[in-house]
Amino acid sequence: MSQASANLSREATAQHATAREPIEAGDPASDARALRRCLGQFPTGVTVVTARNGERLVGMAVNSFAAVSLVPPLVLWSIRRESSSAQDFLQAGHYAVSVLADDQVELSQLFGSSHPERFERTRWQAGLHGAPLIEGAIAHLECRLEQVHEGGDHLILVGHVERYARFEGAPLLFTQGHYGVAQEHPALAETLPPSGPDAAPLLSDAELLRQLVYASQRLSLDFESHRQALGLDMPMSRLLNRLLEGACERAELGRATYLEPEEVADGLAGLEQQGLLCHRDDGQVELSAAGRERQAAISGSAGHYMKDKLGQIAEADLAAFKRVLLALGQD
Ligand SMILES: Cc1cc2nc3c(=O)[nH]c(=O)nc-3n(C[C@H](O)[C@H](O)[C@H](O)COP(=O)(O)O)c2cc1C
Repeated sequence: MSQASANLSREATAQHATAREPIEAGDPASDARALRRCLGQFPTGVTVVTARNGERLVGMAVNSFAAVSLVPPLVLWSIRRESSSAQDFLQAGHYAVSVLADDQVELSQLFGSSHPERFERTRWQAGLHGAPLIEGAIAHLECRLEQVHEGGDHLILVGHVERYARFEGAPLLFTQGHYGVAQEHPALAETLPPSGPDAAPLLSDAELLRQLVYASQRLSLDFESHRQALGLDMPMSRLLNRLLEGACERAELGRATYLEPEEVADGLAGLEQQGLLCHRDDGQVELSAAGRERQAAISGSAGHYMKDKLGQIAEADLAAFKRVLLALGQD
């Protein structure tokens, strides 16, 4: 074992020894949303599973995909029984899995919706049995539907892989209700790249976007304990932030906050439970007085948090960073 991984292992063991208090716990039957949040602690990749049933193409974003067996080559995924595509997937008898790359978040969102023009808006090619293979994916697995198992409100579709293809690229990840990117664990990085004016740049231009997303996710996860102290989670806090600007249609909130429809529904339910929302006669939602107070508290907390974080960075670097961020954000 290397020194870095030995250190990591010691730290992990030490952490393990300290019992953590659960944030939520209980009987799954009493709160399905809390159970979903618990399951979301397990990170997955994101795939788009497609099929052709006669003249009809079906396709949906899927993160329940898993490898089952190498010999014979089997994979599985599960589909909601109530899904409008369930019957087509069963009747088609074949399906194709496209494993999405880290620059395919929009595609995942498109196939996570019931948008009628999903395929018209996507570059794909017909594979075996006409099942669409998504371009830009990092892997394709073309499967014959071999077994269907009951799985409560889902059906488990086991497929025999007939053909596969692997491409260059990094996977898109999904965890704790958010998209993410994979990065080597910093504690395992044996050697740091050289720094200083003469050293090669730490990040290539192409890596910059990924690093921006990664930094934003790290900060957001790190800020979680501050939100929790105020009885909020990330979706609730983003919704509060948007609603501070004024009343909003429920349908518009997802677009304005970059949250998934389920996150918007969960977030609004959580805010409502705490009396932070009002429903207007015209169907829009707005903040109650208590909601505005809570929003002020969270933005105060965010201000302190960022000040603390940025305090560790040299002033000149920070000024340059702000200029770059503003320039990148301009149309
Ligand atoms: C990241 C992500 C993963 C998903 N995983 C699954 C899944 O494993 N099984 C499933 O039935 N639906 C899953 N969905 C939801 C479906 O993609 C979505 O319900 C479907 O595209 C909408 O059509 P429908 O309402 O007809 O099912 C997922 C959505 C997203 C965004």
